[in-house]
Amino acid sequence: MTEPISPQAVPVPEPGAAGDLRLAGISKTYGTVRAVRPLDLTVEQGSFFALLGASGCGKTTTLRMIAGLEEPTTGAVLLGGHDVTDLPAHKRPVNTVFQSYALFPHLDVHENVAFGLRRRGIRSVRAKVGEMLDLVQLGDHARRRPHQLSGGQQQRVALARALINRPRVLLLDEPLAALDLALRRRMRLELKRVQTEVGITFVHVTHDQEEAMALADTVAVMNAGRVEQLGPPAELYDRPGTPFVAGFLGTSNLVEATVTTTGGDEITVTAGGVALRVPAGRCPRDIARGDTLLIGVRPEKISLTHADDTGTGSGGVGGAADGGGSVADGRNRLTGRIVDAAFLGVSTQYVIDSPVRAGLEVYVQNVDHGRGPWPGAEVVLHWDPAHTFGLRDEPAAATGGGI
Ligand SMILES: Nc1ncnc2c1ncn2[C@@H]1O[C@H](COP(=O)(O)OP(=O)(O)OP(=O)(O)O)[C@@H](O)[C@H]1O
Ligand SMILES: [Mg+2]
Repeated sequence: MTEPISPQAVPVPEPGAAGDLRLAGISKTYGTVRAVRPLDLTVEQGSFFALLGASGCGKTTTLRMIAGLEEPTTGAVLLGGHDVTDLPAHKRPVNTVFQSYALFPHLDVHENVAFGLRRRGIRSVRAKVGEMLDLVQLGDHARRRPHQLSGGQQQRVALARALINRPRVLLLDEPLAALDLALRRRMRLELKRVQTEVGITFVHVTHDQEEAMALADTVAVMNAGRVEQLGPPAELYDRPGTPFVAGFLGTSNLVEATVTTTGGDEITVTAGGVALRVPAGRCPRDIARGDTLLIGVRPEKISLTHADDTGTGSGGVGGAADGGGSVADGRNRLTGRIVDAAFLGVSTQYVIDSPVRAGLEVYVQNVDHGRGPWPGAEVVLHWDPAHTFGLRDEPAAATGGGI
């Protein structure tokens, strides 16, 4: 393995040749199938952008329209302000890396990477290929054939081959899907490093939410041909805008509730007879008393206390009606019974049935050696109301937007 080379030695887009990628109302219909609904979004130059969604939601079709491999039914693709919708694929400053690496089996690594340059009639390829192989840390493998490489190494060759022509935008369609979990995690770091070094815009398609969050500056969550929400990963996780996003990006406990009071910084709701507090800023606007909302809280935000714990913790209220005596005042609290506990090493995952909802999920970090509660135990679930969010039980009408 060679040392990573300095950013100065890596090709960067020429000055003035760069620019944002903009999709303006592009859609694709196949017969009666609306694969992609009219989509407006801007991918900032040099950013790592992920399109995240379940199988069949239109990710590949969107990517193929950007690449020029599929003609949009409506709309336009703009690169740096230029409309490229009518340009054939090979004339666009865009390259694609696919899940199947599509390397030439009869060519060695060096020649696979050199292919794009030779096709453009460039003769002296050695230095550029060397640079690219160093970038993906395969300098020592230049004379191997693809079948003599691991999956991860083949994927790095595909990356070098796609980058050597200095595309303005690199499209990646599930590039890590064929790799095992450990290798996928390593390659994730590699991809991120390469993107940072070359500074080229990456548009990465995946159905793996962890991959999208780990890699991307901006994630667009797609559902049934539409972008339901778009933003930095932490923002989407913290403030999901729809039940779909709340469930697709991480795990959410969503509980149906009725609004009881509004006004001020906080609203209150009742769910199964239990009062819960929700910051008004984390709820949809225009909420009125009597409205139905889905109230959400992430599983790692919830703490568990044995229901028979009558100790008095800081601010504790010994003898509380639900038995969770050591729970501080002002926290949202529910009672429940543990139905399943799975030890995951770093944390333990609990599944809890509550009168409010069955199957609530709670992750507790395994900080102490002591045993946690067992299945069958009665517990109090409690959390800081600031971590609660409210959603309307309907998909958002939005279709993405600028970033
Ligand atoms: N050439 C085609 N003809 C007809 N329907 C198509 C064609 N290509 C895609 N579709 C349909 O369009 C929809 C979106 O497909 P697309 O390949 O974009 O999904 P995807 O999000 O990439 O899914 P996956 O994660 O499984 O790769 C699907 O319903 C698919 O069946
Ligand atoms: Mg696909």
